[in-house]
Amino acid sequence: MEGRNIILIGMMASGKTTVGGLLADRLGRALVDTDALIEHREGRTIPAIFAQDGEDHFRALEQQTAETLSHQTGLIVSCGGGLPLRPQAMAPLKESGVVFWLRRDPGATYDSGVLGDRPLAQDGRAAFLERFAQREPVYRRWADHIITDFSSPEATADAILEVLEA
Ligand code: S3P
Repeated sequence: MEGRNIILIGMMASGKTTVGGLLADRLGRALVDTDALIEHREGRTIPAIFAQDGEDHFRALEQQTAETLSHQTGLIVSCGGGLPLRPQAMAPLKESGVVFWLRRDPGATYDSGVLGDRPLAQDGRAAFLERFAQREPVYRRWADHIITDFSSPEATADAILEVLEA
C-alpha cells in the first residue's frame, strides 16, 4: 500500500471529503479535494465556473487536476462526483492507487438536504436519482472496492480502513 494514493469516488455529497478527512487523520496522510483545488487555482467557486464557462470547461479543469495528482503519492484524493465520467481524468488517477466507491443511496443523500448550490443537483429529486442511475456503471467500472456503510462518517472510514488492512 505505502505510497499508493487512496482515491474516493461517488455521487455528489456522498461524504468523500468528510470521510477523506477522517482517513487523512487516521493514516497521517494529506487530503486533497479536487473541487477545492480547482476553486483555489481558479480563484472562483464551482457554481461560478459552471455559470461562466460551462460543464465541459469544468471537466477539462478536473482532468488537468487529476493528471497532476496522479504523479503524486501517499495522498487521499476526494474526487468531484463527475470526475470518473472522463476516462482521461480517471485512468491516470486509478493507476496511482486504490479506488473506493462510496455508494451512498442517492435518495438518502437528496433527502438529507446537503446538496446546497451544486450546479448539477438543482433539478429535483427524480433528476438526481436519474443522474445516479446513469453514473452507476461508471463508478462500478472504476471501483476497486465498494463501500456501503453510511451509518456515520466514522463507520464509512472504518470500512475503508478494514479493506486497506486486509
Ligand atoms: C459534480 C460534483 C461536485 C462538483 C461539481 C460537479 C458532479 O463535487 O465537482 O459540482 O458532476 O457530480 P462533489 O462530488 O464533491 O459534490
